[in-house]
Parts: sequence; C-alpha cells; structure tokens
Amino acid sequence: MASMNALVLHEPGKLSLETVPKPSAAPGSVIVKVLAAPMWDYVPDILSGQRRYHLPYPLIFGTACVARVEEFGPDVKCFTPGQLVFCDYVIRLNDERVVQGYHGGFTPLEQAMSNDYWRNGCYAQWAKFPAENVHPISSSVTASPFELAEIASLMPALGAANSISVCPGETVLLLPATGFFSSSVIPVVLALGANVVVGSRSQESLDRLVSHFEGEIDGRIKKVVLTGDATQDTEALKAATPGGKGADAYIDYAPPMADGSHVSAGIMALKRYGRCCFAGVVIQDVALPYGPIMVNCITIRGQFAQGHRDVAQVIRLIESGTLKLRKKVQGPFALQQYEAALAAAKESRGWDKMVVLAPEHDA
Ligand SMILES: NC(=O)c1ccc[n+]([C@@H]2O[C@H](COP(=O)([O-])OP(=O)(O)OC[C@H]3O[C@@H](n4cnc5c(N)ncnc54)[C@H](OP(=O)(O)O)[C@@H]3O)[C@@H](O)[C@H]2O)c1
Repeated sequence: MASMNALVLHEPGKLSLETVPKPSAAPGSVIVKVLAAPMWDYVPDILSGQRRYHLPYPLIFGTACVARVEEFGPDVKCFTPGQLVFCDYVIRLNDERVVQGYHGGFTPLEQAMSNDYWRNGCYAQWAKFPAENVHPISSSVTASPFELAEIASLMPALGAANSISVCPGETVLLLPATGFFSSSVIPVVLALGANVVVGSRSQESLDRLVSHFEGEIDGRIKKVVLTGDATQDTEALKAATPGGKGADAYIDYAPPMADGSHVSAGIMALKRYGRCCFAGVVIQDVALPYGPIMVNCITIRGQFAQGHRDVAQVIRLIESGTLKLRKKVQGPFALQQYEAALAAAKESRGWDKMVVLAPEHDA
C-alpha cells in the first residue's frame, strides 16, 4: 500500500508528523495532491483543545486546500488528472454537515459521518474529498496555489453575503471588520457591487485595513470607530451610509472573545426591511432591540460556512478579475515545518497575512 506524510492529531495537544496509508479513490470521491492549505490564527487553539471542537481521534487534521486532481472514482467523469482545483472541507448530507478534518459536527448523525468515511483532512500530501466539493480553477488564473488558498476565507464571506442576498448598490455594515475571516467580507461585498461600512474599536486598525484594499475602492469603504456606546455607535454607523439613511444589510463576524454588545448598534443602523447575518461566533447570549426589529421588519439569520454554489462563485469572481486576492502568503511551510507554521499562525491575526502549508514540499 502506498504511503504519505500527514499531520495526525491523537488527542488535544498531541499532533505529530507521521507516515500513513495514502487514500485511494472510490465512487463519488476524488484524490488530490495537496499544494496549499491555509492555517489561520486559531488553528493552534483547535489543535490544543482550547477551542472545543468535536473531533474523532486519531485524525489527519486539515482545513480547505488548493490541489491537483490525481485520481477519482469510476462514476466521477468531470475531472482530468493534473487539473488545478480548490477543495471545500464542508461535507453535506441532506441537512447534516461536517467540516472534514476540522470540525466533527454537532448532531449524532454528523458525528457518525465525521467518525467514518469523511474523517481525515488535508494537512497531508494527498487527501480524499467528495467530488462535489472539488472545484476546478481555470488555468488562466495567474495567482499561485499559495495565494489561491485565500479562497478558504472568501467562501464563508460570500456564504454570509448570499444568505442575506446582498445586491449591487446596497450598503453593508461589517462588524467587526479586522479579522482574518471578517475582513474577507470586504472584497466579496465590493465584488458584488455593494459598498461597505467597516467597524473596529481602533482607528489605527481601520486606517491600515482600508489602505490594504486601496487601489480599487473609490471611496466605497467607510470607517467607523466603535465606542461601545450603542446610541453613539448607531448614529456613527448610520452617518456613514449614503444620505445617513441607514444600511441595507449587516454582516456580524464577531469572535468568541467579543461579548456581542455591538450587535444592537448594527441592527439599529439598518433601514426598514434591513437584513442581518450572524456569521461570527459569540458564546454568550446577546441582547437584541426587540421593538425596533419588529417595527422595522428586520430579518436576522445565522450562516454557517458556505454552500457549493458560493465556492463556485468565489472562483468565478477571481477568474473574471472581479475579485483580487489580497492576503500575503507566509511560508509556505512543508509538513515537517509544522511547528514553525503553528507559531507563525498564532502571530498572524488580522486581514493581511495567511500562513500556508505546502505538503508538496515534503516530497
Ligand atoms: N460563519 C462561518 O461559517 C464562519 C467561518 C469562518 C470563521 N467563523 C468565525 O468567525 C469568527 C471571526 O473570525 P475572524 O478571523 O474575523 O476573527 P478574529 O480575527 O479573531 O477577530 C475579529 C475582530 O474582532 C475584534 N475583537 C477581538 N477581541 C474582541 C473583544 N474582546 N471584544 C470585541 N471585539 C473583539 C477585533 O477587532 P478590533 O480590535 O478591530 O475591534 C478583531 O480583529 C471566528 O471566531 C470564527 O470562528 C465563522
């Protein structure tokens, strides 16, 4: 049996580089040679168990990846060996879903799925994905596989925007806007033809964030410093929208460290019939302005990750030149260098950097 190098997690905090059997193709699946897999700032917290994700052990950990098709099941007719692809790690079965190699799901059925056939992730030289999760990338795209790993943060951003039907000409609030994932809403929303109002607790972060996107924005990003005072923040957010009329949509992308006290200001700064998407992770319950939500017919929905069509749309936006990749690649790191990659990931908070593993470098 052929073998490969992979990063195997045996229990929280116990990750090691090992030689394991190489996966082989079966009906419905594709085996890919992994070229680039991103490692964001809180991956070390998942591996250590600090972020308590349900995971089966032992597990080849992984996120999403840019890869080349190597082999596929007999029923999979739509790929050619060597084709450049992006592999999404969210695996769906009707309404159940798991994040392969990364989050084993919430329900007993999801946990059964992640314990078994779709268990292992892509921090390995080769990985197996369901055919529908494998998205071709045109050879006309000039970005490197490492740069293309940014699709991993753009796809949930588009999933969030599409979940509340962001349209051209609209104004979208993004709170907070300065994270690895949250900042990816900015290019996505601009590519959809909407403008964006970005919020942060820091003027300095906002200035650096907006300068990161300079060159193609034509004043379409407005900045608001969040003070924590709901009335003041509502007024400032509204004032940043065209004519001060309020925003059409609001995407919240708060991290677990946030208490969610900013959410009320975001909702109060929406127009009548405004839509709000909760796409972050806030642990504690958040107080909502019930009366204004009713009076203004506000829609609030949550959005976990993305669907297949969102991933395909991100790739189309990149292929057409409508959306430019912006994150600076750190590394790429071989699997053997995983400890250095983890240290770099922990330091990589924010919008501008992306640590990338390149398992091909282990060959
Ligand atoms: N919906 C999905 O499918 C999906 C997909 C990917 C990620 N996520 C989740 O989205 C969350 C956000 O991701 P991210 O990478 O953008 O997050 P992040 O980098 O950890 O944080 C984003 C921003 O939150 C603000 N912040 C940090 N600590 C705070 C505190 N104590 N109170 C208030 N604000 C605070 C900071 O902004 P300022 O300092 O500028 O104010 C920070 O830049 C993650 O926790 C992740 O789990 C969800």
